Amino acid sequence: MDKFVINGPAKLSGTVEVSKSKNSTLPIMASTLLFDKPVTLKNLPELRDIATMKKLLEKLGVKIEQRGSETIFDSSELTFCEATYEMVKTMRASVLVMGPLLTREKRAVVSLPGGCAIGARPIDIHLSGLEKLGAKVSMHGGYVKVTSDQLIGNKIVLPFPSVGATENLLMAAVYAKGLSAIENVAQEPEIDDLIDFLNSAGAKIERSRSTIMIEGVPPLSLKPIVHTPIGDRIEAATYLIAGLITNSSIKINGVRPIYLEAVIELLKGAGAKIDLDDNSITVHPSKLTPFNVETAPFPGFPTDVQAQLIALATKIQGSSFITEKIFENRFMHVPELQRMGAKIVLKGNLAVVEGGEKMVGAPVMCTDLRASAALVLAALICEGKSEIYRVYHIDRGYELIDQKLRQLGVDISRVNE
Ligand code: EPZ
Repeated sequence: MDKFVINGPAKLSGTVEVSKSKNSTLPIMASTLLFDKPVTLKNLPELRDIATMKKLLEKLGVKIEQRGSETIFDSSELTFCEATYEMVKTMRASVLVMGPLLTREKRAVVSLPGGCAIGARPIDIHLSGLEKLGAKVSMHGGYVKVTSDQLIGNKIVLPFPSVGATENLLMAAVYAKGLSAIENVAQEPEIDDLIDFLNSAGAKIERSRSTIMIEGVPPLSLKPIVHTPIGDRIEAATYLIAGLITNSSIKINGVRPIYLEAVIELLKGAGAKIDLDDNSITVHPSKLTPFNVETAPFPGFPTDVQAQLIALATKIQGSSFITEKIFENRFMHVPELQRMGAKIVLKGNLAVVEGGEKMVGAPVMCTDLRASAALVLAALICEGKSEIYRVYHIDRGYELIDQKLRQLGVDISRVNE
């Protein structure tokens, strides 16, 4: 297992290129199951989660070929319809093959994801939506089986704007007979990227605010296309905070600022000096004041930036309040940050950070993807050496993060333990 060794404090400078979005790429990869002709995706990020989804699709019979920066997915001959336990427990997003498999192959068997470090993460909203489209759902031995000879368009109201449920259901509705309306949907930019991708192949999907309308098209009628996913807004937010926490000037290229408006607005409100153009964000040394924020579904403050924000708050004199409203256990980074000297008190889903304390390098442990990013950010302001163990968590969602940070001036090395 690899660890990162970071010698702080760090001063950053230069430009960092954001990779394509993991959370856009994963549902789009799952949706290639809807095609019986080759589909080309460009510039996919080299991430563990992308590799996991490729392995799952190949198990289902998809032929995947890499040609330079293009990845070609050929789902003309599917051989299997099951997302096994070892796939799903590695990556919850494996459940996204359920909707496409059901609507194309009339059945899907998917392991229940079980919990993960940040919470229980059930799929009840996915399953009740599929039942609304006429699917039969049965559970056995930790697996869920969904079947339907022909899905029928219907109205579905989501009890919570679940990102994954929105994606699974809109993919299932593509080949359903007639019109489907999904209400109270997630509105993350990655949903719109999936919709744009499917519409450019001939699907008929329209999102207006929190409702998505899907007019079913004939099965396997989608035509082959080439698509490049949007930039990764969570990676961009992470580097934006890296610039602020080290009081540096850096430019973050390859993401539309509109995708992280809530993050930018919060940071500007705390005094951050940030310049925007249509595909990049530039941050400058800033005197920051404490803040009070709650995570929320898009366009609210993203839960995937909560851990990184807590790391930043440790640097800001005064009391900051961060409330996690999406997941029930997403403060695993806090005990590790406390080992570095952070003064943080947890009260249920509220973290109160007394910032401005001296931070000292220490050995710390990654527990989940975004918690790992918080530890790296904190190590940038620690005096001395930090060792960050189990960086396979961070390799799930940050492409070449050690190389990108080194290019920005960070003394970071990856050591094989
Ligand atoms: C997506 O996960 C993202 N993953 C997550 O990013 C992100 O944190 C999350 O959306 C929220 O924005 C991908 O896109 C691959 P949800 P997802 O369904 O779809 C509950 C990262 O760091 N819920 O919106 O699993 C659930 O338990 C990852 O890149 C149900 O109760 O999130 C959670 O508390 C982490 N029943 C809340 O809703 C359901 O059927 C949000 O879940 C579905 C969800």
